[in-house]
Amino acid sequence: MSVRENFSAVVAADAGWGIGLNGTQTLVVPEDRKHFRSVTGRGTVIVGRRTLLDFPGGRPLKNRRNIVLTRNPDFTVEGGETAHSVEEALTLVSDDEQVFVIGGESVYRALLPYCRRAYVTRIDADAENDAFFPALDSLPGWRLADPGEEREHDGLRYRFELWERE
Ligand SMILES: NC(=O)c1ccc[n+]([C@@H]2O[C@H](COP(=O)([O-])OP(=O)(O)OC[C@H]3O[C@@H](n4cnc5c(N)ncnc54)[C@H](OP(=O)(O)O)[C@@H]3O)[C@@H](O)[C@H]2O)c1
Repeated sequence: MSVRENFSAVVAADAGWGIGLNGTQTLVVPEDRKHFRSVTGRGTVIVGRRTLLDFPGGRPLKNRRNIVLTRNPDFTVEGGETAHSVEEALTLVSDDEQVFVIGGESVYRALLPYCRRAYVTRIDADAENDAFFPALDSLPGWRLADPGEEREHDGLRYRFELWERE
């Protein structure tokens, strides 16, 4: 297993690294959608089958190559490709310029070891969650490269953080 220069995770996490509850994202700041689009650009995204279900209409993201991880050999999705293992996903994207790992929890855990960077929308709140991102602040090798400036929406404070491997 080795880190790939062009692999980044993109996530919105609260203070305790919570990212979702009952299959959906708990805390959403509108500016984050724009931030997500600008970070992922026209790159490739790798997404878990459960997170795909939570996208509008259960459809892949537009203007990007979508790789959906599933162990179900019969699962297909219009506008996306499927991979049935981490290895298969890595092979599929091996020639792609920029690859973004966009969740959920199981996909972050499986692919973070390959990521060079993590774009974390860090929301200063403690929501109820049943899905979590690995706690980068206690994970060896990761450092906060850019804490971003403090922003606020409806009383919710957040930052666009950039984490990198040392
Ligand atoms: N805050 C954020 O930025 C953010 C971003 C994304 C997601 N989320 C949250 O994360 C939660 C979902 O996370 P989750 O872990 O339950 O689901 P998930 O990671 O989105 O999807 C899980 C599914 O992906 C497939 N999968 C996972 N690892 C695989 C592997 N190694 N090989 C093949 N297939 C694999 C399996 O699909 P099959 O069952 O089809 O085999 C598995 O059931 C939701 O609450 C969502 O809102 C939050």
